[in-house]
Amino acid sequence: MVDFEIRPSGQPVPEARRKAILAAPGFGRTFTDHMVTLRWCADQGWHDGRVEPYGPFLLDPATAVFHYGQECFEGMKAYRQASGAVGLFRPEENAARFNRSADRVGMPPLPEETFVHALELLVGQDSAWVPDAIGTSLYLRPFMIATEPALGFTLPSDSYLFCVIASPVTAAFDAGTAPRPLTVWLSKDYTRAAPGGTGAAKTGGNYAAAFKATQQAVANGCDQVVWLDALEHRWVEEMGGMNLFFVYAPEGDGRPRIVTPPLTGTLLPGVTRDSLLTLAPQLGLAAEERRISVDQWRQQCATGEITEVFACGTAAVISPVGAVRSAAGDWPVGDGRPGPVTLRLREELLGIQHGNRPDPFSWVRKAC
Ligand code: COI
Repeated sequence: MVDFEIRPSGQPVPEARRKAILAAPGFGRTFTDHMVTLRWCADQGWHDGRVEPYGPFLLDPATAVFHYGQECFEGMKAYRQASGAVGLFRPEENAARFNRSADRVGMPPLPEETFVHALELLVGQDSAWVPDAIGTSLYLRPFMIATEPALGFTLPSDSYLFCVIASPVTAAFDAGTAPRPLTVWLSKDYTRAAPGGTGAAKTGGNYAAAFKATQQAVANGCDQVVWLDALEHRWVEEMGGMNLFFVYAPEGDGRPRIVTPPLTGTLLPGVTRDSLLTLAPQLGLAAEERRISVDQWRQQCATGEITEVFACGTAAVISPVGAVRSAAGDWPVGDGRPGPVTLRLREELLGIQHGNRPDPFSWVRKAC
């Protein structure tokens, strides 16, 4: 296991200021007193692990990540538990996905236990920064960047920096701690990912490619963009940085059904997505991975077969979708308000994450 040297900050944020931040944290704008850094080069492997004061990097302008975007990242959260302890939610899943992303963009793997240990060290060091209201948390952003100062692009960088930063947050789209229904824009002009591309990897280029379409969404009065498949522009893939679920009215078995597009390699395999598919049967819901076309979305909202739609992700938790807009027309989802299945799933998931509900799959790992 890689060792980490602990270098505590000599200038932590004063307690009164920290408490003011924790009372209304917003999303990803303020950061804790420390960060984790760890370096890799071919000769030494992973080395120079540190928990050190949060602060800027000094990097050569030729550093590979600035030019070719060779990087990957994760998004995960530490939650204040009902007991006062702090828990991480399924960190092994993020560790595994981080390595899949790293592999896709030619970067070295980080042992999963080192990834999780780095998170635990940072959360332990900055535990006073974990807010306690339900729906708030300490967002953790592990990332790895290519650090070779060279413009050659035949081979990947020969050195890397792994870093973890932490930011107290509320759910990304919430108004206070209540979910706000989103209006979404169906992008026909742009696509996020094509077969064989990097769509399943959590790498910055996917997000850079999204900004233009999101600007278009905002210009059309929407909150987020929904991506369609690159080949037919017909099948729903995902939304911004989140997965999408469709809630269908009960059929023969009397159970509402939650449906999400299958993992075809062009969308991100979300940890929240997987958790909801796993939890659904426990809550009396059927769950299914199946393709949904834009026409089906529109028609089945009109007939009442689709009763709710929601987006899910670590940052957003579960956000209801209230209305859809597109160049070809607009339509409402249900009555536009957060539906009962959306709210039930959100309550259950947050309950497990905060230790207020039984954790039947042992998803919460005590960090400190
Ligand atoms: C997350 O949900 O954690 C993400 O990484 C999405 C990001 C765009 C905020």
